[in-house]
Amino acid sequence: MDNRPVGIFDSGFGGLTAVSEFKRLMPEENIIFFGDNARAPYGAKTPEEIKKCTAELIEYLVKSGVKAVLAACGTISLNAGEVVENAAVPSCNVLTPSVEYIASKNDEAPIGIIATAASISSGAYERELRKAGVKREIISVACPDFVTLIESGVPYTDERVKKAVEKYLEPIRKAGASLLLLGCTHYGIIEPAISAYLGGKTEIVSASSCGAKALAELLKSENICGGEGKTVYHTSGDQEEFRKIASAVLGYDIGSLT
Ligand code: DGL
Repeated sequence: MDNRPVGIFDSGFGGLTAVSEFKRLMPEENIIFFGDNARAPYGAKTPEEIKKCTAELIEYLVKSGVKAVLAACGTISLNAGEVVENAAVPSCNVLTPSVEYIASKNDEAPIGIIATAASISSGAYERELRKAGVKREIISVACPDFVTLIESGVPYTDERVKKAVEKYLEPIRKAGASLLLLGCTHYGIIEPAISAYLGGKTEIVSASSCGAKALAELLKSENICGGEGKTVYHTSGDQEEFRKIASAVLGYDIGSLT
């Protein structure tokens, strides 16, 4: 039994989608969540900047006593994978488990991938899928407006979200993709708008859920499971603003951060 918390981190609210899924899988675990909202969006940063931010976030969490970390961020997983891998505690990301899941599918229809500009320009999702033997057509689209809208607390029902979804997802719908990877953890927050546009014909794969599952498996394989089900939230941004938006995203009041 290891009661130390796990650390789950992201540039902002996106990582909460991984927190939700991880809590569902392992409700007894203690969690420290860190959202670097003050420095979001990471998707507009260079790989060097992303690596530097990642090293700082991991150092903070390790100093806080976590037993393992999940980089609940596609942009970090694709641009600072080595920094995550070299963490002082066992670590996992959202890239590897997403690729493994997609590679396990027996289908030939095209795949859509949506993610941040930094993730799409790294080419890492596509590269890793090819390495894993995936031969299907891949349509990758960067969706920079999504994170800006989500970080400002705009709900998925807002007309601006609907317009942005139509703009970015059109080529993926047209291509008849049978699977769409939400390659940025923020996108799960607006998933109802995305699936409404795709009309239920496309399987939506969440990088967040894949990452949460990888963290659960990591704890089991390292034999470090245990806790009292407590979650503590930290942000580099405004605490009250974070409380409001995070509570809306999670569907319950997370309470004061202090
Ligand atoms: N949630 C992040 C991701 O999964 C990053 C969003 C951003 O800060 O641009 O890519």
